[in-house]
Amino acid sequence: MIDRATVEKILDATEIVDVISDFVTLKRRGANYIACCPFHNEKTPSFSVSPSKGIFKCFGCGKAGSAVTFVMEHEQMTYPEALKYLARKYGIEVHEQEESAEDTADRLKRESMIAVSEFASRFYADALFNTAEGHSVGLSYFRQKRGFSDETIRKFGLGWSPSGRSFAGEPAAATLPRTALQNGYKAEYLLSTGLCYEHGGELVDKFRERVIFPIHSLSGRVIAFGGRTLREDKTVAKYLNSPESDIYHKSRSLYGIYFAKSAIAREQKCYLVEGYTDVISMHQAGIENVTASSGTSLTTDQIRLIKRFTNNVTVLYDGDAAGIKASLRGINMLLEEGMIIKVVLLPDGEDPDSFARSHTRQEILDFLSEHETDFIEFKYDLLSSTIERDPIRKAELIRDIIDTIAVIPDQIARSVYIEQCAQRLGMKEDVLFAEVARVRRKRIESGQFEQRRREEAAARRAAAQEAVRAADGEDGREYGAPAAGDGAYGQDNAGSFGGDAASAGSPSLAEAAMNPVPLLDPVERELVYYLLKFGEYILTFDGSKTYGAEAPVIRITVAEYISAQLQDDGLELQNPLYRRMFQMYFSFRDQLLEEDSSEAGRDPEVLQGRILRQFVNCQDPQVSVAVVDITEAKYVINVKEYLKSQIPERNTIDINVPKAVLVYKLKYVEHACSQLMAELGRLQSGSARDAALSASGQDEQSSAELAESGLQKTMRELKALLQAKNMIVRELNRIS
Ligand code: CTP
Ligand code: MN
Repeated sequence: MIDRATVEKILDATEIVDVISDFVTLKRRGANYIACCPFHNEKTPSFSVSPSKGIFKCFGCGKAGSAVTFVMEHEQMTYPEALKYLARKYGIEVHEQEESAEDTADRLKRESMIAVSEFASRFYADALFNTAEGHSVGLSYFRQKRGFSDETIRKFGLGWSPSGRSFAGEPAAATLPRTALQNGYKAEYLLSTGLCYEHGGELVDKFRERVIFPIHSLSGRVIAFGGRTLREDKTVAKYLNSPESDIYHKSRSLYGIYFAKSAIAREQKCYLVEGYTDVISMHQAGIENVTASSGTSLTTDQIRLIKRFTNNVTVLYDGDAAGIKASLRGINMLLEEGMIIKVVLLPDGEDPDSFARSHTRQEILDFLSEHETDFIEFKYDLLSSTIERDPIRKAELIRDIIDTIAVIPDQIARSVYIEQCAQRLGMKEDVLFAEVARVRRKRIESGQFEQRRREEAAARRAAAQEAVRAADGEDGREYGAPAAGDGAYGQDNAGSFGGDAASAGSPSLAEAAMNPVPLLDPVERELVYYLLKFGEYILTFDGSKTYGAEAPVIRITVAEYISAQLQDDGLELQNPLYRRMFQMYFSFRDQLLEEDSSEAGRDPEVLQGRILRQFVNCQDPQVSVAVVDITEAKYVINVKEYLKSQIPERNTIDINVPKAVLVYKLKYVEHACSQLMAELGRLQSGSARDAALSASGQDEQSSAELAESGLQKTMRELKALLQAKNMIVRELNRIS
């Protein structure tokens, strides 16, 4: 682990132009440098480097970031790896924090377990091709029954575990435990990986007499196995899998992710299937962006693993009842992680494996794109045959779909689904909106969101720690910890840049597609500006002005003030990027204070500088660029601005920060008002229509009355908002 002081030293020494020049020929243009972008194909240069800001940005493909991010992206390195690279370049000695004896022991143990697993994998592959039994039983099964080519078999490292009996007159082939021990591998690790168990004082291969599917980590190392029996005997388990161990965490692994990751990033889509054979057959058919959750139903960690590469998941299950059930189970979880999910139901009796084997690549792709449905359609189709005649079932379906929509984190995505749903089910959008809002409110009240947020924060922290560990040894990253900074792209696909924008920390596609509210955006930006530039500075209010003569002088930091003000009114920034920056701000600050809580470390100017630096060098290029954009002075100087600029800005924050917050609230209220007005318009025309209907005697149960109460409610809300607006305006006048 690289200590903070060294990181600072490295960042201090790093010159972005110098770093990028090692890979790209830069030409000077004014204060900046330009070149043809190394991350996408282009003829005219749109890649620009700013030495003063320490950032690069491509105006063609949008890639941007600091020197560190450049090295990460260009050289496919993890964050710690990139830092070490820069340290070497600038001759800085990296002081690594010492590993405790216990950590060393753990690391060595994991290394040994991986080593014996990789040995076993080679042993099984060898037995498949080079023993009589492996050849005639295992290899012919793969070739004939499964239709795998030798190339496919070798790519996935498929194997055979010898039975230990003589075969076709030949003496028994050596077994794994014997060979491994002979080669110096310890029994301890054969046991702890679950490759072997002890029986009568001897080691026995758990997978003996089975064909073998090695399971690879994200970076391509063998961490576990699946073994399929070729016996028809129903009392023998068809598949055996490695148990959980220090190197294999089922819930965090996906079969085939190592072979699929570049294709997933490139295609911006991941097909999710059930098992080993599905993945392999799809690959052989030429579709490589496929992984399997292998037996277990999908977990949140597995979803986050995919999310590093893309937000688009297409769940592909066989058309039988179990398959349908399984895909329904996964759906809410995927949605909750902000994934964009499609479902494909294969023709009856087919699984991805059989389907891939009997069709060409193009046929498969055509079928998938034709039959991809989003989850509402999917649920609807599944149940529509019964609901037409059965109003209770229909109500259940609506409830079910509303509950599902309510878990989607992205507001715009929710609205799109609501619109669709209203159309499909012939319902009013407002009713659905209100229902979804109600479900979400309930979830908030029951603390579910908060719990998720905490869980995610904890997962991120753990992953970051693991990533740092991973950069030091070859282990750590093996078990695919989710999120930030891990070796998501390993070194194997160095040189391919395609689609990597989906890497850790980048915003979700849904997020990118979400438009900020135009009315609010500039004011939100202003709040972020004050946060970034003055977050740690102290605001001083004369409490007596607000609360009467006895009240004390109130002192609070700008960051705390803004955050408390927004929280107080339950407001949330609408621009997802700004919202993210807000969260990052507090986590950077907490982390920095944890590392240095001395008086000097708490000094506002010092702390602010450190926080800003974290932002500029953070792993999310969108953020680091936005930070520079927002904090650089950008005012056109007119006389008034010029006079203002003569007063140090920090002297004006006592007034300007509260003002910015109030203006934000004002705009927020105005935005809410305009939405309510529109709503009011809709309700009024609706009630006029209903009134006409009931006047013609068709409607006994007065829906006009119902609409009327909706109307009244909306008007009440509007009135309250207008009152709030007046209060804010009065307050604004008072302070300025
Ligand atoms: N699978 C599993 N454990 C089982 C059954 C299935 O892990 N007990 C997974 C395997 O990954 C397998 C996939 O589900 O690749 C498909 O299952 P299935 O079709 O039953 O296995 P096949 O080996 O394809 O068997 P068959 O030849 O009978 O189709
Ligand atoms: Mn099958």
